Amino acid sequence: MNRYAGRTVLITGSGRGIGRATALRLAKEGAAVAVLDIDSEPAHDVARKIADMGRTAVALVGDIAEDGAGERLVGEAEKALGPLDVLVNNAAMAGRGTLEATEPDGWDAEFAVTLRAAYNFCRAVLPGMAERGRGAIVSVASVNALSALANPAYSAAKAGLLALTRQIAVEYGPRGIRANAVSPGTIHTDHPSWQARLARDPDVFEKLARWYPVGRVGQPDDIAAAIAYLAADEAGFVNGTNLVVDGGLLAGSAQMIEVLTTGAD
Ligand SMILES: NC(=O)c1ccc[n+]([C@@H]2O[C@H](COP(=O)([O-])OP(=O)(O)OC[C@H]3O[C@@H](n4cnc5c(N)ncnc54)[C@H](O)[C@@H]3O)[C@@H](O)[C@H]2O)c1
Repeated sequence: MNRYAGRTVLITGSGRGIGRATALRLAKEGAAVAVLDIDSEPAHDVARKIADMGRTAVALVGDIAEDGAGERLVGEAEKALGPLDVLVNNAAMAGRGTLEATEPDGWDAEFAVTLRAAYNFCRAVLPGMAERGRGAIVSVASVNALSALANPAYSAAKAGLLALTRQIAVEYGPRGIRANAVSPGTIHTDHPSWQARLARDPDVFEKLARWYPVGRVGQPDDIAAAIAYLAADEAGFVNGTNLVVDGGLLAGSAQMIEVLTTGAD
């Protein structure tokens, strides 16, 4: 497939995990990609891999939560690649696991990376996209936006991302811009919250698999495929939606069905 030929894309947090997989996938499909990460080496590594494919990439380094980062980094991406067709709001921060453990400063920090930065990046790309009459924004939310699964500040910020997505879809849809979200379930990545859980329990992903009707947790490519669909022209009638990619986690509870049906006809 060559759905992204001639398209330019900026992906926040694309040095690792889901963002990295998305950058490589969209580049494979023809996109020129701005690979943005707070860490220089992973960003440059992904950009090099894309160049090795014979595609175009630029590595950008910065903290998306810093004041002015949206405008500055979108400016750098457009200087290198030309006007942006696609923005993927991917980087996020998850902190305390329970509400009891949260504190106001930590709550604000999680919101700053997960929601406020996405808002700022949208603000930076929307005027140009509206002027050109075309653009797509995909924000990576989470099943945590829809169900209580720990990390309450992160979850509330992800729910905010869904509201932001709907607002952009309705306000900017008439100007040729589509905004959608993807809500992953557990994805096997090196995200710091997974590193911490793995340090406590090396079998955490295997143990979590039992909650997933498909019998496994997800991989970054599972989400990259959904993002690649939502930002492509073939999804031209898909606007303001949230695509849950969770192996059936939120569809229902097999454990509850078992209790309800044991001994029944
Ligand atoms: N992994 C999961 O189980 C899971 C589940 C649901 C949603 N998500 C969401 O998917 C997205 C990607 O998660 P992941 O698991 O691939 O994470 P990851 O840690 O593997 O990758 C995230 C990348 O973002 C970068 N980053 C972090 N903060 C940044 C900042 N302030 N500025 C710029 N770059 C920054 C990191 O350096 C890293 O390279 C996040 O929005 C996360 O909430 C992940």
